[in-house]
Amino acid sequence: MPILTWSESLSVGVDEFDNQHRKLINMINALHDAMAKGQGREILGPLLDALVQYTATHFASEEKRMQQLHYPSYLQHKVEHDTLTRQVRDLKQRFDAGKTTITLEVMKFLREWLTNHIQGTDRKYGPFFAQHQLQGARG
Ligand code: FEO
Repeated sequence: MPILTWSESLSVGVDEFDNQHRKLINMINALHDAMAKGQGREILGPLLDALVQYTATHFASEEKRMQQLHYPSYLQHKVEHDTLTRQVRDLKQRFDAGKTTITLEVMKFLREWLTNHIQGTDRKYGPFFAQHQLQGARG
């Protein structure tokens, strides 16, 4: 059973970023699924690594659009991205050092880590991007 399910409450009104968020949700669910099946570190490690990598790709993609469109809250948004990146990299480092593994608490943290950012911060750029006619933005 997935720990996180896509719903319209997670839509930012921009197809490109909704699709990227869906991919992040799928990656979190894959990690949760592997944990629930009792998979070992050799399976969990690459899944966590992929999540860290794709997070960087996604954040860079949003930041590029914000810069292109001179989004007024760009700096504020970037600071939040940097904090989130640090948190997930810290988790990966602790995992690699054998100081932690993937537990339900870690999965709940990742669920909140993503949903709070999408719902609290990402959703604010939707109307701005639509106003500036970003292709795929629905407002
Ligand atoms: Fe979708 Fe600002 O991360």
